[in-house]
Amino acid sequence: MLCGRIGYPLGMNAPPRDPHDPMAAKAQPPFPEIERTLYTREAIAGRVHELAAMLCEDLRAELGGDKACRAEVGKIVIMPIMSGAMVFAADLLREMPLKLSLGLVAVSSYPGKSLASKGAVISSELPSDLGGKHVVIVDDILDSGQTIELVRQIVGEQKPASVRACVMLRKDVPRVAKMPDDQLAEYVGFDIPDEFVVGYGLDYNGYYRNHPEIVTLKREAL
Ligand code: IMP
Ligand code: MG
Repeated sequence: MLCGRIGYPLGMNAPPRDPHDPMAAKAQPPFPEIERTLYTREAIAGRVHELAAMLCEDLRAELGGDKACRAEVGKIVIMPIMSGAMVFAADLLREMPLKLSLGLVAVSSYPGKSLASKGAVISSELPSDLGGKHVVIVDDILDSGQTIELVRQIVGEQKPASVRACVMLRKDVPRVAKMPDDQLAEYVGFDIPDEFVVGYGLDYNGYYRNHPEIVTLKREAL
């Protein structure tokens, strides 16, 4: 049997964690400043699976069904908005059994300790070969909407074959973006109230992105 020194045999997953095992609890990053869990690992994984299935179905249909799909399928570009979408995109991609490529874009909107968007600014080069491609923009959260609106605009300038956006969370706040919600993001994991959340890629002042759940922080931590 092939077995790595610290891994599991090839083809085998780690055994599921026992939530009552004190050692398992210790393996979690200890963040006492967490106030409340909105979505657990399990809830997130279930929803990511559903979103990936919807995306695959729609992309396959867009590409003309299974046969036509073979020629077109390499034209799918997944575009995670860094850094917040990193964790979500990594999970989503691995649930999408399609031939696709990755094109990253970095956008800054909540610098440092800010709790409200300061307006979106593209802070990296955009992939320059999006003409004729089917682009899927992926982000952690839709808040003011400025980030996705901006990325959709600049992607659109390259004349892609199609553009869609998938966000894990959508916040219930008035949007600054001019586009209506259903044109900003066609795929939404969860709708949440107007609260500042961290974990699963979302940060406060650069921290908590590695927390595997989506949580709120105690007021004194902000
Ligand atoms: P928008 O441009 O206002 O829609 O902001 C989107 C970006 O702001 C997201 O990609 C996040 O990086 C960040 N953001 C918005 N709300 C939150 C939050 O509650 N926690 C952490 N980051 C957030
Ligand atoms: Mg972001």
